[in-house]
Amino acid sequence: MGSPPDTSKTTKLERYNSYLRRMSSAKLLAASSKVLFRATLLATVLLIILLTLHYPFSLSYISIFSYSSPSPHRSLLSSFSDSFGPAWDRDVRRSATPRRDAGLSVLVTGAAGFVGSHCSLALKKRGDGVVGLDNFNSYYDPALKRSRQALLTRHAILIVEGDINDSSLLTRLFATYPFTHVLQLAAQAGVRYAAKNPHSYVASNVAGLVSLFEVAAKSADPQPAIVWASSSSVYGLNEKSPFSESDPTDHPASLYAATKKAGEAIAHTYNHIYGLSFTALRFFTVYGPMGRPDMAYFFFTKAILAGKPITVFRIPGGKDVARDFTYIDDVVKGCLGALDTAEKSTGTPGGGPKTGPAQLRVYNLGNTTPVPVVKLVSILEKLLGVRAKKNVVTMPSNGDVPFTHANIRLAARDFGYQPTTDLSTGLQKFVKWYVHYYGIKLKAEAGGGQMAAA
Ligand SMILES: NC(=O)c1ccc[n+]([C@@H]2O[C@H](COP(=O)([O-])OP(=O)(O)OC[C@H]3O[C@@H](n4cnc5c(N)ncnc54)[C@H](O)[C@@H]3O)[C@@H](O)[C@H]2O)c1
Ligand SMILES: *[C@@H]1O[C@H](CO)[C@@H](O)[C@H](O)[C@H]1NC(C)=O
Repeated sequence: MGSPPDTSKTTKLERYNSYLRRMSSAKLLAASSKVLFRATLLATVLLIILLTLHYPFSLSYISIFSYSSPSPHRSLLSSFSDSFGPAWDRDVRRSATPRRDAGLSVLVTGAAGFVGSHCSLALKKRGDGVVGLDNFNSYYDPALKRSRQALLTRHAILIVEGDINDSSLLTRLFATYPFTHVLQLAAQAGVRYAAKNPHSYVASNVAGLVSLFEVAAKSADPQPAIVWASSSSVYGLNEKSPFSESDPTDHPASLYAATKKAGEAIAHTYNHIYGLSFTALRFFTVYGPMGRPDMAYFFFTKAILAGKPITVFRIPGGKDVARDFTYIDDVVKGCLGALDTAEKSTGTPGGGPKTGPAQLRVYNLGNTTPVPVVKLVSILEKLLGVRAKKNVVTMPSNGDVPFTHANIRLAARDFGYQPTTDLSTGLQKFVKWYVHYYGIKLKAEAGGGQMAAA
């Protein structure tokens, strides 16, 4: 997990090839009678084909933020259809086209991620069009992102491999299909990773966000409505509980939280100046199947099964650290509710003045029931049939906050958001997925006791 996220591949092979074709045909006309020239041309074309086949990435457009991360899952052929051209356009349009009347067409960034993959599937299942965008960075095991991608592929959802900071790729996407909505979930997540790689937060959560908003404001026609992931971490060290959207967010405890708060401020300016419609969703510790390996419920499960000790934090003064754990299916319903109630942007495509005020909303998506982390551990012990080796220590001030608790009144009022899954039920579904995904056999079903896992 130590390596910095890799970035996008944006091959511009097609552009390069058509340039070569233009050059070649001009010369061909001028020298059509010369057999020698024809032979040379043939050799050149053969050489290009050979080069293209053997080094598909060496011909790619090189920018500071685009180098390739070839994956074993992708054949030479699929890397071709990833590059711009008629096949790429067709794939994008096919995936983006809704299959129901008045369906949405949504560009989902971070679609190979935890929340993004679940939302993409839910949108597709109800007949909306979805195109994903993800850079498959290695902040956590990219194999998990690839297996989420494989699941989406089985549901006919295309994920374009690229970075939200790549303006030309975004422009190309919006030129290919008039997306009605963007679900912007791509981000550098996690709180403690900032100690290792602070710039990854700025690159994705600030620079990338601005690049996306720029294209949405100035290139996209029509301008899409944008629903995007902020975070409960913006409440920082607030003590008033539960957290309400109108509470101040002036005490971020981590760089992650600070970049999410910056995102909310940036969204405000793009709403004010360009009339972009924005909905920020402040997620509260989302968990569930296909979840994130860098989150406690996930790596606790791994450690407990391996018989390794886990570190559980306590607040100075002896209180328990608690989180308002929110099950993925509830969050997905909230995201879809936000998309369905998002109003159109009011700007003039091309970045001209807005024609009127545009919607600007912020919602908590939490569960409203904070659970102490020690309770999370005891639920996992029961489900796994293994006792955890707990190492209880006082929480260091490295970015984590002592507790989170959502007031969800606004989301309930505006789109009927109502979480229905409690932590035990949700973790049961997570564990079921976990043991299946990693091929683990539990020796005992729920019931506790000192039983080991195979
Ligand atoms: N899971 C939670 O508990 C939680 C809580 C609060 C907020 N959020 C926010 O919700 C969103 C989704 O979170 P998640 O848990 O699914 O995280 P995730 O890391 O699983 O998903 C994010 C995806 O975005 C991709 N990505 C990152 N930077 C990118 C870039 N510059 N260009 C293109 N793709 C990029 C990653 O490869 C990843 O697949 C994030 O914005 C996160 O900050 C999540
Ligand atoms: C993001 O894109 C901009 C504009 O293309 C570029 O100047 C900047 O360096 C990029 N940021 C990162 C972090 O790569």
